[in-house]
Amino acid sequence: MATMIPILETPLGCLHQADCLSVLATLESESIDLAFADPPFNLGKQYSSRIDDAKASHEYLEWCRGWLDAMVRVLKPGGSLFLWNLPKWSLPLGAFLGERLTFRHWIAVDIKYSLPIGGRLYPSHYALLYFVKGKRPAIFHPDRIPVPCCRHCGGELRDYGGYKDKMNPKGVNLADVWTDIPPVRHAKYKKRDANGLSLKLMDRIVAMASDPGSLIFDPFGGSGTTYVAAELTGRRWIGSELDCSSIIERFDALEADSAHLLEIQRDKNTLFRRSDLERRRKVGKPLSGNYRLAEIVGAECVCDSSSREQGDLFDVS
Ligand SMILES: C[S@@+](CC[C@H](N)C(=O)[O-])C[C@H]1O[C@@H](n2cnc3c(N)ncnc32)[C@H](O)[C@@H]1O
Repeated sequence: MATMIPILETPLGCLHQADCLSVLATLESESIDLAFADPPFNLGKQYSSRIDDAKASHEYLEWCRGWLDAMVRVLKPGGSLFLWNLPKWSLPLGAFLGERLTFRHWIAVDIKYSLPIGGRLYPSHYALLYFVKGKRPAIFHPDRIPVPCCRHCGGELRDYGGYKDKMNPKGVNLADVWTDIPPVRHAKYKKRDANGLSLKLMDRIVAMASDPGSLIFDPFGGSGTTYVAAELTGRRWIGSELDCSSIIERFDALEADSAHLLEIQRDKNTLFRRSDLERRRKVGKPLSGNYRLAEIVGAECVCDSSSREQGDLFDVS
């Protein structure tokens, strides 16, 4: 295989300022544990890399099939492939991948990304397609997430019936609808590519389908969120991007991302978010992060009972 000179090398990763197809051509077959792609969506957006983001539909799909095919080739048996896109493109691309890999999930990530459109439903989710090479994933350890609590009193928004004492102290099972991923619009990221994904999203994917030391590939670097999540959690990574300036700038000062990731990680695999525990402390609700140890009396939200959901037993384990 031909080698390429990376534009950035870190202790764990290397980034190529090049077309993803030429980088993919240099990778060994069956060498990648986790492949993730967040391509342009063909919405006619302006990218600093000046790509054509307004192709005819058939051309766009043809282009996507080219790099997806190459990603399938480099994926290890048992490796995971995630594709982030609009439902419109996920449908044909999911069918294409389904002929090559084993479908695991269509994860709906609840993020509002446009204004309501007349005569249509309000587009409110991105599709995160999850496939695996072969029958089963070699690595699968999804995070558990905290119980949803009231923003005012910290009380639980769901009624867990008589099963609270059986709930896992590490939180509830991750479902295939994610409603807790924030859009990236924090002031400190102002300079960053507007298309950048949330670090929380990438940390969740990386945690689910890789281990420290695993090798991750993302063909569309953008602002480098995948690479940052990989680097800060001890995964090796390879990336490509036509304009790497945002990524290089980001890796020059990783402290903010590192602190942000710590916050994200403190609030997962736990029954209550720290902010909810603080609210509960203020109003005198039980504070234990473990229902199995605490005597829970009247801990549910009483602010607005209409927003409570009943009998959500899927997360009892
Ligand atoms: C939606 S953005 C990715 C954002 C990224 N996931 C993040 O969190 O910052 C898509 C990126 O793909 C890059 N791109 C488009 N065509 C490419 C190609 N053929 N090879 C490499 N990168 C490409 C664009 O420059 C753009 O930055």
